[in-house]
Amino acid sequence: MARHLITSAIPYINGIKHLGNLVGSQLPADLFARYQRGRGHEVLFLCATDEHGTPAELAAAKAGKPVPEYCAEMHQVQARIAEGFGLSFDHFGRSSSPENHRLTQHFAAKLYENGLIREVSETQMYSRADGRFLPDRYIEGTCPNCGFESARGDQCDNCTKQLDPVDLINPHSTISGSTDLEMRETKHLYLCQSQMKDELEAWIDSKTDWPVLTTSIAKKWLNDGDGLQDRGITRDLDWGIPVKRGDKDWPGMEGKVFYVWFDAPIEYIACAQEWVNAGKGGDWARWWRTDAGAGDVTYTQFMGKDNVPFHTLSFPATILGSGEPWKLVDYIKSFNYLNYDGGQFSTSRGRGVFMDQALEILPADYWRWWLLSHAPESSDAEFTWENFQASVNKDLADVLGNFVSRVTKFCRSKFGEVVPEGGAWGAQEKSVIDELTTRIRAYEGHMEAMEVRKSAGELRAIWVAGNEYLQEAAPWATFKEDPARAAAQIRFALNLIPLYAALSAPFIPFTARTMLEAMTLDADWPGDIAQALERMPAGHGFAVPDNLFAKIADDSREDWQQRFAGTRD
Ligand code: 2FM
Ligand code: ZN
Repeated sequence: MARHLITSAIPYINGIKHLGNLVGSQLPADLFARYQRGRGHEVLFLCATDEHGTPAELAAAKAGKPVPEYCAEMHQVQARIAEGFGLSFDHFGRSSSPENHRLTQHFAAKLYENGLIREVSETQMYSRADGRFLPDRYIEGTCPNCGFESARGDQCDNCTKQLDPVDLINPHSTISGSTDLEMRETKHLYLCQSQMKDELEAWIDSKTDWPVLTTSIAKKWLNDGDGLQDRGITRDLDWGIPVKRGDKDWPGMEGKVFYVWFDAPIEYIACAQEWVNAGKGGDWARWWRTDAGAGDVTYTQFMGKDNVPFHTLSFPATILGSGEPWKLVDYIKSFNYLNYDGGQFSTSRGRGVFMDQALEILPADYWRWWLLSHAPESSDAEFTWENFQASVNKDLADVLGNFVSRVTKFCRSKFGEVVPEGGAWGAQEKSVIDELTTRIRAYEGHMEAMEVRKSAGELRAIWVAGNEYLQEAAPWATFKEDPARAAAQIRFALNLIPLYAALSAPFIPFTARTMLEAMTLDADWPGDIAQALERMPAGHGFAVPDNLFAKIADDSREDWQQRFAGTRD
């Protein structure tokens, strides 16, 4: 049994995420976690809310709430929605946890001891109107790299370049809009990433099987311009993890906090500690410390492309620079962006479908299927309502749903709700078994390789094979001439239902459960396909499930298209 540590990028606390966010990290991570569990492997799947920094402060101010209260409430909201989508985290933690405070301060102490943190007196943007420094999202302006007009102080969302507020052209305060800014002296800590450039580059170069999207972004920041730059890891903010060296004060850094991007990835580790402290697991170190058994763990991270620089460079610099035996990531699966109906999803303009709204209008599996089967892997992808309607109606309703409905209803009408006796598999069934064997092994290969779209395509073909069999075997016609042969055909087709449920569970877990409950079986990953199709022998009872999927009508599609065109509620 292999051991898989899987993390999804941790979503900012500042509001409910849209479907583009979901398909860029949490959902494919869940697909992989469910698949590995389905194969019988040991999985620890972690995610959390990213609660520090300017995103949290700005959102709490907008909601008129103290930041801790806002974060506690929004964590609950995000946890509930994640559950609604079937995201099977072993723990959904919080980056503001005491565990993360301790661990972040620990890493800072180790990096300092190893000469990898330096103190820098510098000038930073100060807003006279707001009476404060303006780090990160408190300041916006034009990106010097690509010209995008709403680039933030720490990163341009358009070209992913990491920025400093002083780099921005025409900067303004996002608190007051003021452009009355000046440079003021302040002291900060810098992580000396530049000292680690060669080590990081050799490590990235050794990852020849990583997606090009991941390695190309990493290489770009390693080699563009003057090469890998040191990064400020502290901020003049009220909310965050106080700057300390372990549990000791850091002279000159009183009142400052660590930068959100320093502590957020450390939460991946702290989350495992939270999982243990919540009584859900026995030992976090065997997942995270190579001196405690994590050497045989395979660690996979999932994230959108804008998160790649932090995961390929800054976080590994923290881990390696500590000089301690922490587990490093083995594979980084990154995603392009999902666009929405001719434009971009926009959180600020409420454009697109947000996770809570999606669940209000349709069950999670409809969304899971569309999002995963159209995952933005090799390029950006686009959600359109027409495409969503077509995929749901065809793949889910016409192919899978219709197959289950026809088989179970026909059996009930001719033989009752029990697997019928009589006949045996013939050439037709053997040829389906051969086709399924080839396709299922290909499906496993794509899932292992985290090729999400290819996996979905193969799964769809596996469902189609069942439909085609039913169409050709036509047990309703056979029944008139040869009821025993019809019984064998229906027994074969009924047995495809639990097989499909096990294979489909990573994509559509709720429907897979319904299918298994109807067949009164547990999921069992198919090894030998002929054997797997004998799991329900003659006499095994089942129930006809309700229709698995309802088709999306044109007028619903048009209503939704209007409703989600902009501005929430
Ligand atoms: O982009 C985001 O939503 C960030 N909150 C992701 C952080 S991932 C990490 F490193 F923890
Ligand atoms: Zn840019």
